[in-house]
This record gives sequence, C-alpha cells and structure tokens, in this order.
Amino acid sequence: MSKGRLLSGMQPTGMLHLGNLEGALANWVKLQDEYEAFYFIADWHALTTLYDKTELIKDYRRQVAIDFLAAGLDPNKCAIFVQSDIKEHAELYLLFSMTTPISWLERVPSFKEKQEQLHLETVSLGLMGYPVLQAADILIYKANVVPVGQDQLPHLEISREIGRRFNYLYGDIFPDCKAMLTQYAAMPGLDGRKMSKSYENAIYIADTAEETVAKVRTMFTDPLKIHKNDPGHPEGCAVYGLMKTYGQADMHEDCVAGKIGCVGCKMRLANFLNERLTPIRERRCELEQHPEKLDEVLAAGAEKARKVAKESMAEVREAMNF
Ligand code: TRP
Ligand code: SF4
Repeated sequence: MSKGRLLSGMQPTGMLHLGNLEGALANWVKLQDEYEAFYFIADWHALTTLYDKTELIKDYRRQVAIDFLAAGLDPNKCAIFVQSDIKEHAELYLLFSMTTPISWLERVPSFKEKQEQLHLETVSLGLMGYPVLQAADILIYKANVVPVGQDQLPHLEISREIGRRFNYLYGDIFPDCKAMLTQYAAMPGLDGRKMSKSYENAIYIADTAEETVAKVRTMFTDPLKIHKNDPGHPEGCAVYGLMKTYGQADMHEDCVAGKIGCVGCKMRLANFLNERLTPIRERRCELEQHPEKLDEVLAAGAEKARKVAKESMAEVREAMNF
C-alpha cells in the first residue's frame, strides 16, 4: 500500500557522482516501492546558473536521466520526467509569483550564497524566483513528502508557506508537504572535502573502472604515513572516510598499528567501488546505445506527470477565477 505521494528532483548541471548516488538516488530507489513517486530533472532550474550554456543542459538532461535509470529507478514503479516537458509548472510558477512576497526570497540562504559565489554582477529574476518554481514543482503534484538534503530545507519551508498562503487566499487545494531528510553522512571526495562537482574531487557514476582506480590512487591519505609500517591516522584520511560511509571501515586498527600500507588500502577501496558501480555502469552503457529507450521512458513519465499537473491546474484556475 502506498503511504502517499512523494516527489523529488535534481538539476542537470553536471554528471552525477558517488555522493549523489549514495546520498540521494539509492534512497529514491527504495522509496519508489513505498510511495507513489515522481522523480524529475529540473532543467528550468538549471538555467539559473547555466543560462548562457544551454548546450550543457541539453547534454546533462540526458545523462542525468540515464543515471536515474541505471541506479535502479523503475519507470513501472515511478514517474521519471523532465520538468520542461510539463508546461503547467511554469503557469503555476507565474501565479505563485503574484502571491509570494519578495522579502521571503531575499532571506533564502542559497540565494545570498549564489549571489556571492557566482560573482554575478546582476541577479536575475529567475534566480530570485528559484524557490517559487520549486514550490510549483512540488505543489502541482500535491506531494506530501519530498526527500532532500539538509541544504534544501529553506526551499521546502518556502514551498510550505507558498502553499499555505494560496490555500488562505483561494481555498484549500494544496496539502502540507514535508521534507524527508536522508540520514546520510556527507561522502568525502578525493581531497577529503565533501564530494562535489565544483571541487573537482568527485568519482562519477559514468567513470570507467580504470578511471576510478586512477582517481582513488590520487586520494588524500595521512601524509605522515610514508612507509607501509608507519603508524597511520585514519581520521584525516579520505580513503578511510569514504570506506566509512559504506560501513567498511574495519582497516582502522591495522592502519594505526602500521600493519597495512596506503597503496593496498586504496586498491581495496577502488575494487569495492568498482564492484558497487559495475552493474550500474553496464545499464548505463546499454541506455547510451539505445537512445530511443530513454525517450520512451521520459515520454511515459511526462504523460503520468502531466495528467496530475493538468488536474491541479484546473482546480487552481477555477479557485482563482481564471
Ligand atoms: N533545488 C533542488 C536541488 O538543487 C532541485 C529541485 C528543483 C527540487 N525542484 C525540486 C527538489 C522539487 C525537490 C523538489 O537539489
Ligand atoms: Fe588511509 Fe588506509 Fe593509508 Fe590508513 S592505510 S592512512 S586508512 S589509506
């Protein structure tokens, strides 16, 4: 029995890496069995940063869809679609933009951060309206549950406020939506910082086994452990940190005792990752070779999504006298 409706999305701003896989996608795969799930590629959101590189969005849109399927999202269990295929999101975004105070948007931490980080001389209306579009994404499906990372909590809070304000003004249409926080320790990247495409420290789902081995070889370890029998300090070591996120941190004692060396330890990690990723990569290759299969999945997903979105918009227009 389904517990309710669940929705989540990712921006196609890059290839998906191990952090995306273990922190989000693997969880989505589990949740597709428990909820009526909608998973989408937020390509309009990607325009807030890549508006002058739309050919990249075109590429990542497909690559992310391939990663979704390869990781185990099943189009028979959930709807997998592209945001811009459902024009109703844009209509609801426009209507929400009329009832959302600008002061709510100015307060969003990610807005302030992006403004600084991107060295933008100008801030677009779209960047400021990012959470409004996200609210439309969620509320148009009347989703009850939204699995996201900690960083998305302010956006979810605004979505709830936008929904409540709409209900107050025009009548009860949108249910309350809740963030579902994934309990997952951030995955360290090659340099020990959080794995992120912007740090260029990521292992990608689409990397080959050889690339994975080569990347793991460059990983940051204990700089004081030079010889195999030097006692090591696993706490600051990226190899140890990554193994720990997989519950495979049993080398701690041997590292401290100088019984193992970093070269062997890295080989163990590389083998472990390649074992985890090989079936996913095989499905990836198959999908790359059959683009028409991917088109079919996305068309079927859009059809499922559009049906719900159209129903919601009919209610919204009626409530607003349009
Ligand atoms: N803002 C989300 C992110 O960057 C992506 C996103 C867009 C999303 N619309 C959404 C997530 C709706 C959940 C629900 O990760
Ligand atoms: Fe890290 Fe392993 Fe080297 Fe210890 S032996 S420092 S855990 S790579």
